[in-house]
Amino acid sequence: MEGVIDAHTRALLTEQPGFDWTVTEFVRVVDVRLPPRVFYKHCPELAPPEGQARVMTPHGIPVHLQLLGSDPAALAANARQAVSLGAMSLDLNFGCPAKTVNRHDGGASLLRDPRRLEQAVAAVHEAVDGAIPVTAKVRLGFSDRLRALDCALAAERGGAASLVVHARTRDEGYRPPAHWEWIGRIRHALRIPVIANGDIWTLEDYWKARTLSGCPDVMLGRGALADPFLAPRIRHWQRTNERLPATDWPVRAEILTTYAALQRSTLPERVVVSLLKQWLNQMRARDPEAARRFQVLRRETRLNPFLAGLAAEDASTTASSPDRRPAAAMET
Ligand SMILES: Cc1cc2nc3c(=O)[nH]c(=O)nc-3n(C[C@H](O)[C@H](O)[C@H](O)COP(=O)(O)O)c2cc1C
Repeated sequence: MEGVIDAHTRALLTEQPGFDWTVTEFVRVVDVRLPPRVFYKHCPELAPPEGQARVMTPHGIPVHLQLLGSDPAALAANARQAVSLGAMSLDLNFGCPAKTVNRHDGGASLLRDPRRLEQAVAAVHEAVDGAIPVTAKVRLGFSDRLRALDCALAAERGGAASLVVHARTRDEGYRPPAHWEWIGRIRHALRIPVIANGDIWTLEDYWKARTLSGCPDVMLGRGALADPFLAPRIRHWQRTNERLPATDWPVRAEILTTYAALQRSTLPERVVVSLLKQWLNQMRARDPEAARRFQVLRRETRLNPFLAGLAAEDASTTASSPDRRPAAAMET
C-alpha cells in the first residue's frame, strides 16, 4: 500500500504465519524504462541481505512487485527490467483511485475501457514470456459496475494468472460497504483464481467476504494495519477452529516500537514519528486503546517521548513531559 506498507512493514506483518504473499507499493510507469534504483527502492527484497532468500520477506513470504501504468510498451519494458532484476512475479494495479494517477491515465482509469486493460496485461504477459506469473488487481468499475465483468474477463484474456477484486468502484473510494457478492459474480465467470478484497477488518468480515464471494482466498489491506495479527488470527481459525481475540494493546505497542527501530535505521526522527502516527491512526478506528494513545500523542514530534507514550501502562499518563525518562528509549 503506497506510502503505508514498505519492506519493514512487510517484514513485521509476516513474522507470524498468516500471509501467503505480499505486494509492494506500486511502481509508477509512465513512458520510460525506469532505472534499477526505482525497483530496489520499492522492493528492497530484490537485493536482500546475505542469507535471506530473494524477493521474500525475512520470514520467507513472497513479495510480488506491482506496476501501475497504462502504456503497453512502457509496461512491457519495465516488466523486462523487473525480470532482469530478479522479480518473481508482477502484479498490475488497475484499482488506484487517486485523482492525479487517474488524470494521467493510470490505476482505475483503465476500468473505463476493458480493451485497454487487456492490452496492458497482454503486453506484460508477453514481455515476461512465461518466466514469471503476471497477476492483476481491479475494482468493480470506475463510476459504476457496468463493466465489472468485462474488465475481469479482459484481465484473464490478457494472461493474468490470478485476479484480486477490490469490491468497490473507483468513485466509491474506500467507503463501506464493500460489495463482496459482486466478486462472486466475477469468480463464476472466470477460470483463473479470484481473490476477494475490501473491508475485511475482523474474523467475521473474513467469513462474510468468503461466503458472499465464494473465494477461498482474501487480500487484506487496511485491516492488516488496524490489527497486525489479523492474518495470523485468520490462519489460526482456519487451522484450529479457535477464534483468537483482537490483538491487545501491549502487543500492538511492541510492534510499533520494533517498527520505529527498523525505520530509524535509515530515516530521520521526525519522519519515523510521522510514520508511527500513520500506523497508529490506522489502528485507532478499531481499537479504543489505540484511539486514546493517538489522542494523547498526536502532537508529539520527538521519538523517545512518543515511544514512552506507547509503552506507558495507562494512556492518561502518557502526556509527554521532556524530563520524564522514556520506557523504551531509542538512539535518536
Ligand atoms: C493509503 C493506501 C494506499 C494503497 N496503496 C495501494 C497500492 O500501492 N497498490 C494496491 O494494489 N492497492 C493499494 N491500496 C488499496 C488496498 O490494497 C486495498 O485494495 C483497499 O484498501 C481495499 O482493501 P481494505 O478495505 O482491506 O483496505 C491502497 C490503499 C490505501 C488506503
